[in-house]
Amino acid sequence: MEMEKLVSLCRRRGFLFQSSEIYGGLNGFWDYGPLGVELKRNLKDAWWRDMVSAHDDLDTLAGAPSPYEMVGLDCTIIMHPQVWKNSGHHDLFVDEMVDCRESKKRYRYDQVLGRWASCDGKKSQGPPKQLSGPTFDVKGAEYDKIFVTSIGEEPESEIERRAMKHFKLRAKDADKLSWDGPAVTLDKINVADFDKTLGPDATGLGTLTEPRDFNLMFPTTIGALAGEEGRAFLRPETAQGIFVNFKNVIDSTRVRVPVGIAQVGKSFRNEITPRNFTFRSREFEQMEIEFFCHPDESRKWYEYWRNRRMAWWQEMGLAGDRLILRDHHADELSHYSTGTADIEYAFPFLPEGEYGELEGIAHRGDFDLRSHMEGKLDPNSCPLTVQLGEDGKPLHRGSGKDLTYRDEVTNERFTPHVIEPSAGADRGALAILCEAYTEDTAPDDKGKEQTRLSMKFHPRIAPIKAAVFPLVKKDGMPEVAKDLYRALKKKFPAFYDEKGAVGRRYRRQDEVGTPYCITVDGQTLDDKTVTLRDRDSLEQVRIRLDDAVEEIERRVTGD
Ligand code: GAP
Repeated sequence: MEMEKLVSLCRRRGFLFQSSEIYGGLNGFWDYGPLGVELKRNLKDAWWRDMVSAHDDLDTLAGAPSPYEMVGLDCTIIMHPQVWKNSGHHDLFVDEMVDCRESKKRYRYDQVLGRWASCDGKKSQGPPKQLSGPTFDVKGAEYDKIFVTSIGEEPESEIERRAMKHFKLRAKDADKLSWDGPAVTLDKINVADFDKTLGPDATGLGTLTEPRDFNLMFPTTIGALAGEEGRAFLRPETAQGIFVNFKNVIDSTRVRVPVGIAQVGKSFRNEITPRNFTFRSREFEQMEIEFFCHPDESRKWYEYWRNRRMAWWQEMGLAGDRLILRDHHADELSHYSTGTADIEYAFPFLPEGEYGELEGIAHRGDFDLRSHMEGKLDPNSCPLTVQLGEDGKPLHRGSGKDLTYRDEVTNERFTPHVIEPSAGADRGALAILCEAYTEDTAPDDKGKEQTRLSMKFHPRIAPIKAAVFPLVKKDGMPEVAKDLYRALKKKFPAFYDEKGAVGRRYRRQDEVGTPYCITVDGQTLDDKTVTLRDRDSLEQVRIRLDDAVEEIERRVTGD
């Protein structure tokens, strides 16, 4: 499936729009249209129901080491600034970036791809003095070999195009261009070579600044306080709200460890290069669980959540081989973690064989609770110790609150270990849209096979569950159809359509992924039966009009 086709369908049928589109849009921000909002809500509702509200805490679920409890939270987006100091986000949640002095654009250092090129002895003019950075006083310099970069969709062919343009070569002279080595990202070359670098949107050499850290948190100001005092941040993850409320939840409820605390909500990251539709956005929603357990049991719980979460995405309709579970290599793990796995999807905008993360399941040990108790821990030290400044004093003070847990039965006191399944609702919705997009054939009104576009959503996730059509707009059919539509609407989103040929009405519903269409026809008036048509099998069966609501409900819920 080509991504452009899906993007166009999403806009045309009201799944997704660019934010502030009438003003030219805002990069990295997306609005969900009437169908998109239902789709994403269905995904979040399914997650909440399956993970939290319908969780059976009395029984040991398949694969689980023991019964466990699940509760929810809804925390604020702006939290005490100290939270981000002790979570590590204040100092470590950074991307290295470079700015272009000519185009005024900013790029992620590790995302700019480039290749060394030269052209038949031609010299390239170095940067003019006013553009050269503090390290480059190279006015008048000339180079035999330059590093040509791109950040576009097909960077390698773009690099070639830009090199041809730079050396003023026509297509027939392409063989005059020589390459030194394969394409590599900008962070792999020496900063001193930036004066020989042609930035992704620049016309001259040497316009890129040295890389510097860029914190991804959006700063904001609380009240009328100016300066550091009023400075706060929009949360970059929902997880921290759960850690700082751990004690509140334990003290205010009767839940006992092992327990999972869940939250769904918006997170914000000032991504330097938002891209690939909603995949990397600056405002997005997360569905996170922090699962607190006894340290001795944590490995077993990690295994449980890793498998449970993979099975859940499959149940949501990502059942094909585009979904994979990838365990991180031991050298990718923080030393306090005994495991991290990513659930990844082969999004069509990625090169063949590459996958994008939908959810991460991480074993976080006691890192987070201890950091909030004692002050920011050094993630690189083993055993974990509080980070000290140059003056030997703790870099950031902790809350000083006791976040340990005492087991009422065994009387043992310990700092629980945490397993964190952290999923993205927008990436989930995007994967479901990609997986659902299907081009096949179906007979039209005259029985002739025609190509059709259908969104094969799992019925639980489909924005509209059923559509009702009167075959014709007369003989009392619309009245019967409208009554059925109203009865369905009391249970879930349904759609009524009496316009155009019935085949065309089916197509319209296929395109928005409605799994069932019910047609009221002449026979309905005689024997009180209707036709129920299945979107995927195209099978049509006659069912009793009085059973229609129950039948749709049964099919949607799978009960
Ligand atoms: N608390 C852990 C945490 O936030 P993460 O891997 O940074 O971990 C978890 O984020 C999930 O949030 C990702 O797997 C992804 O689905 C989603 N996510 C992260 N950054 C995103 C972005 N810029 N746009 C859309 N979704 C994003």
